[in-house]
Amino acid sequence: MNRQFQKPVKAYFKKKGLPEAPALTFADVVIRDNFSEIASRSDIRNLETKVAKNIALRIPIVSANMDTVTDAGMAITLARLGGLGFIHQFFSLEERVEEVKKVKRADNALIEKPVVVLDHATLGDAKEQMRKYSISSILVIDQLNHLKGILTSRDYRFITDDSVPVTKVMKPMPLITAAPGVTQSEAEATFEKHKLEKLPIIDENGIVMGLMSAKDLIKTRAFPNAARDENGNLLVGAALRLNAEYLQEAELLLAAGSDVLLLDTARANSKRVRDAVKAVKCRFPEVQLVVGNIDTPEAAAMLIAAGADGLKVGIGPGSACKTRDATGVGIPQVTAIVSCAAIAKSSDVPIIADGGIKCGADLSKALVAGAQSVMVGSLFAGTDESPGEVFRDANQQWKMYRGSASAEHQFDRIESGSLDAMRAPEGVPRRVAYTGPVKGVVDELLGGLRSSMSYVGAHDVNEFEKFGTFVWQAVSGYEEGKPKG
Ligand code: XMP
Repeated sequence: MNRQFQKPVKAYFKKKGLPEAPALTFADVVIRDNFSEIASRSDIRNLETKVAKNIALRIPIVSANMDTVTDAGMAITLARLGGLGFIHQFFSLEERVEEVKKVKRADNALIEKPVVVLDHATLGDAKEQMRKYSISSILVIDQLNHLKGILTSRDYRFITDDSVPVTKVMKPMPLITAAPGVTQSEAEATFEKHKLEKLPIIDENGIVMGLMSAKDLIKTRAFPNAARDENGNLLVGAALRLNAEYLQEAELLLAAGSDVLLLDTARANSKRVRDAVKAVKCRFPEVQLVVGNIDTPEAAAMLIAAGADGLKVGIGPGSACKTRDATGVGIPQVTAIVSCAAIAKSSDVPIIADGGIKCGADLSKALVAGAQSVMVGSLFAGTDESPGEVFRDANQQWKMYRGSASAEHQFDRIESGSLDAMRAPEGVPRRVAYTGPVKGVVDELLGGLRSSMSYVGAHDVNEFEKFGTFVWQAVSGYEEGKPKG
């Protein structure tokens, strides 16, 4: 280890109650309980944290950018629960842009860029647009963006001739509209008074500036703990591919509304990634950029100096990983997190502990070690919200989960043209038990976390890291702690 890092890393290990060597993972440590004034785990209500310098979440959980884990469906549900989903990089760029837009439109109080159709379009054109964005009404505008009318499902549900001009079917202006800056409660009052479903926002010249939907406002209320941006829209992250077009990818994903970008490679401790981080931050200084994966303090310092706003830590702890098996590289996860946190803490750059989270205990240990959130793959792959179908075998229901570097995944990518040639596989495919809605899995993880925090006497995630220390345990201690029977 570089000399300059020895001191802070050593000091932080000491603070955590751990020896610096050997390298340890979740099963090797237990959290030490403290005198606690917290009467019950239900008294712990604040699980707020950060996933990047300027991106706050309500719960410390994000979903893995894997093709069997996170598309818009997973990202929407997780953001409603207070976390965040990273749309995976194996979608084409166009598909990623669409997935990001789906999340931003999911239950937004204000749709800043509503889907529109021009006034010379046919009903068929309008229907195609609505199908593409899974919506049932659409604004009709002229070439200069003036609102001409609105087409809702009530207007077209009995019309079978798609060739009729949309202007013949829509409700034309004048419509009930609102001016930019309308508040949620003013919009609610307008919806109520006029029994409306949609409220177009137009400026004094009649130019479309946005759209509000009654259903979305109601949904906003239904998820009081959701992770939202300043407009009340759900937060979403998107992964970049580290290819020749990554700057263009960043531009389009940001334009689509992505709140945080993820530059994710197996080896982020590299010149290639450092150059890419610098280039992205230079071109888009406002971007919140998470970078991974790493497992050493040197890599953490290097990426922070390059401009990273968040770090993803974990080489090989994931349940579909073969990296350590294939290469012998990868530091056990608790040591990796503590080593990187020792450096990242002073720069206020949050850490995502990525891989190996099997239960609330692992989540709790990752946060005590110094991570601000965890990234979850296999635990979410078996839920309703992950992509892929449920199948039945041996009287049980399953879904498929596969490592991003597995041979199977590589074959699919070669077929779709996003990979030139096979590399030695560093991941495996496997089936995981179907577990129903992701909310059930999240609730169980958070139940364990809240209880762990109450043992430590921590009221929030910051206090949990501050007060939390570990005791190193032998295998017999681990065995003792497992349920018997
Ligand atoms: P869990 O344990 O939640 O881990 O299933 C999810 C994380 O695993 C990583 N990942 C891989 N690592 N080879 C690897 O070495 C792979 O093929 C692979 N696919 C995913 C990734 O960091 C993910 O978030």
